[in-house]
Amino acid sequence: MTAVRQTLGRAENPERHLITLEGKTCAFMLDLFERASRFEQALAQGEVPKLLQGRVIATLFFESSTRTRTSFQLAARHLGAEVVDFDVAASAVVKGESLLDTVKTLRAMGVELVVIRHSSSGTPHFIASSLGETVRIVNAGDGRHAHPTQALLDLWTLSRHIDDWHSLKVAIVGDLLHSRVARSLLVGLKIMGVQEIRLIGPRTLLPPLLAEAFGAKADTSLTALEGVDAVFLLRLQRERMSSDDLPSAREYARFFGLTKTWLQKIKPGTFILHPGPVNRGIEIASDLVESPTSLIWQQVTSGIAMRMAVLQKLFE
Ligand code: NCD
Repeated sequence: MTAVRQTLGRAENPERHLITLEGKTCAFMLDLFERASRFEQALAQGEVPKLLQGRVIATLFFESSTRTRTSFQLAARHLGAEVVDFDVAASAVVKGESLLDTVKTLRAMGVELVVIRHSSSGTPHFIASSLGETVRIVNAGDGRHAHPTQALLDLWTLSRHIDDWHSLKVAIVGDLLHSRVARSLLVGLKIMGVQEIRLIGPRTLLPPLLAEAFGAKADTSLTALEGVDAVFLLRLQRERMSSDDLPSAREYARFFGLTKTWLQKIKPGTFILHPGPVNRGIEIASDLVESPTSLIWQQVTSGIAMRMAVLQKLFE
């Protein structure tokens, strides 16, 4: 217990917000991986130090969520913090209160960190820059911009199954146009220095500038999966689509749904990751979700320890 407390309690360059992974270093990522591993161990031993006792954290979600919201709440509670689960639909937001005033109100009641998800890209950045150092902001997904804790937990999950980032070939498959997960993942993969990134999806959901910006290869067929060590699948973000983005989910599944047959063609042992929620039978065949190389459920579990690591770091 003392060793865990000492390792977890050290102070480093204090950071108050986590809005994006852009500008972060490999050392930043590895530090969080290490903290998350220690928290995972502490959770398994039932000896989590209450490092955030007396701290007040709020989750403020303007978009639906299962994993992200629940894991942030569990992470905060495991660390001993008080958690306010702000109910947007039952709040003064519906009476016209601005988002900034909502966060100011929470702050005035002693909330020190707000985990925010919003459909508009840039919202967490706007709040953080408007309120400065007075309240910590964690981006839990903003529009199609960023979802930094998802990328952190995805990369940490994968890191435990690979030996070397620099020889790694990965593919991201699906709705790259609307995916904040893909954007944060791309930033994270570049920071870790992977050898090759392939982006695969229907032409309408595959922005050429995205591939160019990250030095990735773009392809419109799953045949481009050949030889990859890990494949990250994305959900079709129907809530962000216009009607001409895609003919139908069925057609998408036919050409881009990952199946056992595809997997056999890729390379034995290719890891499958998906941030969830999974639409079984669309981006992935149902039986692959529980297949031996699927890390999908591990990703969900990893989310708790990784978010504990992030919360702890922001309170240093
Ligand atoms: C993702 C999100 O909300 O951006 N989900 C998640 O946080 N686990 C991806 C998605 O909704 O498809």
